Formats: sequence, structure tokens, C-alpha cells
Amino acid sequence: MSQRSGEPSGDGPVGAGLSSPGAASAVPTRSALRNDCPQPDGSQPAGSGSFHSMWRELLPIGRHADSHGYRRFAWSGADGECREWFREQAEGRGLVYEVDRNGNQWAWLGDPEAGDAVVTGSHLDSVPDGGAFDGPLGVVSSFAALDELRGRGAEFGRPLAVVNFGDEEGARFGLACVGSRLTSGQLTVENARKLTDGDGISLPRAMEAAGYDPDAIGADPERLARIGAFVELHVEQGRALDLSGDRVGIASAIWPHGRWRFDFRGEANHAGTTRLVDRRDPMLSYAETVLAARREAELAGAVATFGKIAVEPNGVNAIPSLVRGWLDSRAAGQASLDQVVGGIEKAAREYAAAHGVDLDVVRESFTPVVEFDHALRDELARILGKDTDLTVPVLGTGAGHDAGILAGSIPTAMLFVRNPTGVSHSPAEFAAEDDCVAGVLALADVLEGLACR
Ligand code: GLV
Ligand code: MN
Ligand code: MN
Repeated sequence: MSQRSGEPSGDGPVGAGLSSPGAASAVPTRSALRNDCPQPDGSQPAGSGSFHSMWRELLPIGRHADSHGYRRFAWSGADGECREWFREQAEGRGLVYEVDRNGNQWAWLGDPEAGDAVVTGSHLDSVPDGGAFDGPLGVVSSFAALDELRGRGAEFGRPLAVVNFGDEEGARFGLACVGSRLTSGQLTVENARKLTDGDGISLPRAMEAAGYDPDAIGADPERLARIGAFVELHVEQGRALDLSGDRVGIASAIWPHGRWRFDFRGEANHAGTTRLVDRRDPMLSYAETVLAARREAELAGAVATFGKIAVEPNGVNAIPSLVRGWLDSRAAGQASLDQVVGGIEKAAREYAAAHGVDLDVVRESFTPVVEFDHALRDELARILGKDTDLTVPVLGTGAGHDAGILAGSIPTAMLFVRNPTGVSHSPAEFAAEDDCVAGVLALADVLEGLACR
């Protein structure tokens, strides 16, 4: 393993380490599924040891020294280090390593061309100052589950692969799940080429700078045709498992969700000399719109967040000429999402008119409701419930995932690992060590049930 940049591992930031966060679960653990850790005979499962060493290696990469959050943006240096780590894991296990035309990384056990493969994995990039678990937990657990199966002497009847999808979070170019959207044809090459980051660098230029060929990007139906089932393990981004006292759950569906850009254009002017009545201040209409978003979301039982803003000219003593705010909104159903976003836009137009401000609203991305494959979901429940009288909880989620994108093309399922605080997209994101190991073992059981003779 080569030396990594960043802080030394060991003294982990809040949430990134695997020791207890000090926040006890709301109720005692009811079930660790059938493979509790340690095993009933006291031995440690094979996947547990490799999980810990991989976790320690990945921990320092892209971690910001002050915030302790992760800044692993697509095609950045930190992302490159994570990708290099993935390649080393693949090659160190003697797996067939591939990078597809969209920069997604694959590690194959068995013949990649044989078809009907069982694929698992997630992503390694992060939101700005994200936590250690969102994405990496799925990738590390996938390799660890493979180790576990090899330790069990499993014989595979189908090819198995671990995948790292590129740019899941959309933190740099504004669109989530770029790697899986391109591969599944849900993002056209033309639209992908138009994506730019905050510094005006286009996606193709960023890929090229990272050593990838941007002319190759595009839909990859042949690759998807190799896959019979995709299972993504992910840290839960809520507290349902904590409240039910379960370590691991199965996903039912992902809420419809999207991102909208609101451009409020007013007039730049002097903050000290311009009378209040003479101002065309876009910040006022933006601020009122943020409050409207909260009201509309509350009314519909949905969520709506303005989490990113850009101001021009961005001077303390200047009235802004432009306030650009990005809305992320999600709801349990399409009708309530339409109601929330429609209500926010209507209010924003009224506020903009009242302040003499122009408003443009652009939908930058949208993912309709995703129902995971029922047969695969039931198969996971059967595998995980085998030899126990326990039922594995089935949960919906408001978070987006590559699994949600792939669900339009192939049978797809997700496993969630308990998050005792529910916090995510924050340095405080956490999952306890035993729960992570239970996740590895549950994933190993699932892969064994699906891919082994
Ligand atoms: C990705 O994590 C999202 O839900 O935005
Ligand atoms: Mn995320
Ligand atoms: Mn994620």
C-alpha cells in the first residue's frame, strides 16, 4: 500500500472512526441477523479483519484538516487517490480490474463477459465536508464480503463484481450520479459535456486532467447487459434502524427528488448610499423564498433545502446583482413534490416582482420515485431471515443512490446499515463497528445466496 497524503490515521475525526460515538442506540439491538460478530464459536469472520484494514487505509484520503469532513470531489486529487486505492484492492485480490468508458471502476471475480453477474459496490466521492461512510462503507464492505466468501470457501456459480461509480454526489458539477446516469443512458453525452464546476472547468476537461478519455463517455448497454443483479450497501441516512433496534435493513423505495436553480437578478449598488426604496435587492427575494420553501415542505410533509448559494459581486458593501440559490426537494410521492416545488416557485415569483427583481428557475436534475425490484428484495429478505425467526426491516429513503439510477435498467436492491444518530452529509456521520461488520456479513450472505452454487 503506498503512502497517502492527508492526516495520519489513528486519531480519527468525529464520526469517521469506528469506535463508539458515545451516543447509545435508542433501544437495545434486537437482531444482528444470523452472523453476529464475533461468531458463536468466538472466532472473527474473515470479512471483519479486512474491513478494518481497508477502512483505516481509506480514512485519511481527502479529509480536511480543520473541518474533519471529506472533500473527495469527482476527478480531484483526493478522488484520484481513492480510485488508486480501489485499483490496488482489485489487483491485490487477483480480480480483473476494469475502468469503463464513463470512468466507473470494476473489480471482477470470474469472467466479466459471462453474463448474469451479481454486482455490488457504491461510490467513493463525497459532498463538501461529508462523512466517512456515505459511499465508502458500501465499497469497503463489498471487498470485505468477497474476502468473507473466499474465507468460507464459497464456490461461485455466477461472476461477481465490485463497482465504484464515479461522481455519485454531484458535488462538483451539480448533477448527482453522473457515472451511473451516463452508463444507463439517463444522461446524454451532450448534456454531460455542458456540465461545469464552480471554477468553470467542464466535466470533459476535469476527466482529461485526471487521465481519462472524455471522448469515450456515453451509454453502455453492453456493460449493463452483463449484470443480473446489483446490490448496494449504504449507511442509513436516517434513524429508522436505530429506532427499531436493527443493525441492517433492506430498501423498499427512493423518494422522487431533484435540484432546481433559482437565479434572482437585481441591481448592484452601493450599500451605504443607496436608499432602501431605490434598491432592487435579489437577496431579499431569495431570503423570503427560503422561508417559503420551509413552509411548503411542512405543508406537504416533504423536505426542501436551499443548501448552496452564489452571490455576485459578493462584496460586503455592495447590494448584490445576482443571488443564485440551489433548491433540493424530495417527497414521498410525485404529486406532493410537484406541489412543494410549484408552491416555492410561485412564492419566489411574487417576492421577485415585489422587489423589482428578475427570476429564472431551471430544473437541473430530477429522479422519479424508484421502487426496488420486488423479487430481488424478497430474495434478500429470505436470505437474511434464513434460520432465524426475525424479519429484516424494509425501509424507504429520501436519499439518492446509484442503485436508484440502475433500477431502471436491471434488478437492483439495497442494504442499509444502522446510523445511530441519523446524521449524514456531515463529518459527524457515524456507524458503529459491530454494525459495519454485521453489514459486511449480511452482504456476504446475500452474495452467497445469489451467486454461489
Ligand atoms: C445523495 O446522497 C443525495 O441523496 O443527494
Ligand atoms: Mn450522499
Ligand atoms: Mn451515497
